[in-house]
Amino acid sequence: MTLHLGPDPGSIARACALIGSGELVAFPTETVYGLGADATQPNAVAKVYAAKGRPSFNPLIAHIADIEPAMRQGAFNAAAVKLAEKFWPGPLTLVLPLRRGATVCELSRAGLESVGLRCPSHPVALALLRAFGKPVVGPSANLSGHVSPTSAAHVLSDLDGKIAAVIDGGASRIGIESTIVGCAEGRLVLLRPGIITRDELQDHVGQHIDIPSFSDNNTPTSPGRLSAHYAPETPVRLNATELYPGEALLAFGTETIPGVTAATVIANLSHKRDLTEAAARLYSALRDLDKAGATAIAVAPIPAYGLGEAIMDRLIRAATPSSFSE
Ligand code: TXA
Ligand code: MG
Repeated sequence: MTLHLGPDPGSIARACALIGSGELVAFPTETVYGLGADATQPNAVAKVYAAKGRPSFNPLIAHIADIEPAMRQGAFNAAAVKLAEKFWPGPLTLVLPLRRGATVCELSRAGLESVGLRCPSHPVALALLRAFGKPVVGPSANLSGHVSPTSAAHVLSDLDGKIAAVIDGGASRIGIESTIVGCAEGRLVLLRPGIITRDELQDHVGQHIDIPSFSDNNTPTSPGRLSAHYAPETPVRLNATELYPGEALLAFGTETIPGVTAATVIANLSHKRDLTEAAARLYSALRDLDKAGATAIAVAPIPAYGLGEAIMDRLIRAATPSSFSE
């Protein structure tokens, strides 16, 4: 049985003790729920891969409470410092060369000589990280390949009985995973789009941020870019301007499109076409529609600029048959 803990200090202390003894505890962040384990204990990290069914060549990110402990794990160049100072705590993950003396274990990095670091802004996550005092791995707390969890109920529907506890911090405010920037070799690369957009990052750092080319996607230095994940079981059809019989509709704004009267079920990401609201609802809506027994989830067109870029990134992966997942 998985313990369902509240966000109170007593529960956070209990979660800390569990993580310290090598157990898995899911915790809330402002993006999605993470599956926490002691990043310095290979046995604990091995349990994370096993519980998620995640391939062990796909590295985990480590969560820390502040920039100083992060600097003991990763080698920050000037651009990385600038980004961390501006956007931490917050929905940004930096992938950096591994620092000599780093304590995150090799298994958590899938053997890479780099490390993904994130300082979340959710008060419960920060309290947990401060109390624990060591880096905590935190992949999204879902089964590998499945939709990321934005509530404790989502976590339990994937991982009940497989993890020691989940700390319930309510619905995730942002709803999609952090923006990931790779900062190595004097070059910045957007490894995963998120709520902090490429324009915002570039404006702040005064440097161009590359988007990995397709050939980059097949190198092990950016495993998260490889093919499909974030997927419901029902097939996903993008840019739908009409609905076929038996389909469920994932709307963005209007719900009056041809064929809609036959829709099994409708979820609307945002009636007022607000991308922030759409991101926050995305995974919950996909999970709900997945239960409807529809032939497909037809997704209305969503603008691919700003935060829409990150939403479309996830939807394209949800619509791609899976050969690799996180
Ligand atoms: O918002 C988030 O980032 C959430 C919350 C819980 O913090 N976490 C999350 O973790 O989305 P995960 O493991 O589901 O996604 C992290 C991505 C993966 O695609 C992984 O391949 C990539 O980061 N990654 C981790 N370490 C890396 C490294 N050293 N080099 C390149 N990519 C890395
Ligand atoms: Mg994930």
